[in-house]
Amino acid sequence: MITDIAALAADPSPLARTITVDGAGLSIRALLPGDGEALVAFLAGLSGTSRRFWHGDTDHEVAAAGWIEAIGRYDKLRLVAVDRVGLAGVVDLSLSLPEGHEITRYAEHGIHLDPERTARFGPCVADRWQGRGLADALIPPAWEAIRRLGRDVVVLFGGVHEDNARARRFYRRHGFTEVGALDMWRRL
Ligand SMILES: CC(C)(COP(=O)(O)OP(=O)(O)OC[C@H]1O[C@@H](n2cnc3c(N)ncnc32)[C@H](O)[C@@H]1OP(=O)(O)O)[C@@H](O)C(=O)NCCC(=O)NCCS
Repeated sequence: MITDIAALAADPSPLARTITVDGAGLSIRALLPGDGEALVAFLAGLSGTSRRFWHGDTDHEVAAAGWIEAIGRYDKLRLVAVDRVGLAGVVDLSLSLPEGHEITRYAEHGIHLDPERTARFGPCVADRWQGRGLADALIPPAWEAIRRLGRDVVVLFGGVHEDNARARRFYRRHGFTEVGALDMWRRL
């Protein structure tokens, strides 16, 4: 059933599930209004490398407050994975394609992104979880959320750094192909 971001904020239960990764139980769900402190801790706990590849140097408290305030209101849906310690991973999804960003870069490569069909996707797992399969496990719920939102084209949110070899391997493994030096996309 096709739904929208506001409806998923009002009733996030369709996105919730539990998974086991590398022997540990985690829950996957939408970011909720009570997650502010956990989000600050997640951002503050990222290594410099992970931070550089995902959102760069933000003020953690300001970013977390903005993401909580945006729940159900604009173009973003954030999925989180939660373990016994706190947030283990965050997936940014966005349904908007602002001019000057992805839609413009893809057009430079002859690809017209349809704003009605495209979702932007940007995952990040906590450093303690990298290389253990959590990012792989976040893919099915992310694709399910995107399909529920009526989209079937996925582009990387902000592209991928040229030197982020690990992420590029991960995206290729999940069916993405390169568009120029910065971007990767796939159809669902
Ligand atoms: C990009 C990112 C999401 C990928 O996550 P990841 O942990 O490397 O990916 P996975 O969890 O699928 O693990 C993959 C690696 O773990 C290994 N692995 C170990 N156990 C595994 C398991 N049970 N299942 C899958 N892979 C496993 C794989 O062999 C693979 O090794 P490789 O990287 O040498 O090829 C993650 O590295 C990350 O968050 N980086 C920082 C932020 C970032 O760069 N985001 C992307 C912005 S474009």
